[in-house]
Amino acid sequence: MIILKSKAEIEQMRRAGQIVAAFHQAIAPMIRPGISTMEIEQFAIKHLKDNHANAHTVGYNGYPYATCASVNDVIAHGFPSTKPLRQGDIVTIDIVAEADGWIGDSAWCYAVGEVSDEARTLMQVTKECLERGIAQAVVGNRIGDVMHAVQSHAEQHGYGVVRDLLGHGVGREMHEEPNYPHIGTPGKGFRLKEGMVMTIEPMINIGTARMTIDADGWTARTADGSLSAQYEHTIAITADGPIVLTAQ
Ligand code: MF3
Ligand code: CO
Repeated sequence: MIILKSKAEIEQMRRAGQIVAAFHQAIAPMIRPGISTMEIEQFAIKHLKDNHANAHTVGYNGYPYATCASVNDVIAHGFPSTKPLRQGDIVTIDIVAEADGWIGDSAWCYAVGEVSDEARTLMQVTKECLERGIAQAVVGNRIGDVMHAVQSHAEQHGYGVVRDLLGHGVGREMHEEPNYPHIGTPGKGFRLKEGMVMTIEPMINIGTARMTIDADGWTARTADGSLSAQYEHTIAITADGPIVLTAQ
């Protein structure tokens, strides 16, 4: 069942979204060669606490951390690590806050120092995939319209669009119905309605779309070892157009 949110409820969701946005704004200048993703994790825990928010991923299906830190060929759900980030790495940091009983969910990909042109272009195109998806996230469009915009932009660059991890409805729970891959055909799929709140979170690989999961049961990697990037926002569908609740 899709749980539609009233205007008042969408207003209530803003605080969780803004806590997540402020976290990303704060870590952007911290991500340099030498910092570890465990330090980012510690910062996240403090940031959530300071803002009277809960770290929603801790204990979620047994996930142990407040952040996911996905370096280079890791697509998503990487564990924070004490290993320092190195110049040239790219790292996606994903955080889910719960505030006032509502969830905000956003991932952002960061360059560690100077990165290769290949990595920079992947990041740029993946961010554009998110933006193009958001532009289609209007009442009356179908999910196929949104995800076609995402998929076609990535594939024009020869990239693989991950199918095995999904975008999702979000509200009082992190994962609400519906859920959907970041591929689609215009005019197909469920129709977007006023009051839906959902993520768009393309995971885009330089090479194959296929992935493997590490022995830890979480870390999703590209099957061919190619780089992967992700950007994610929590978005409310309203009569006045999409509201990006996690906008920075
Ligand atoms: N942002 C992720 C998502 O879209 C968070 C899930 S990580 C988990 O589903 F560990 F909590 F599952
Ligand atoms: Co999500």
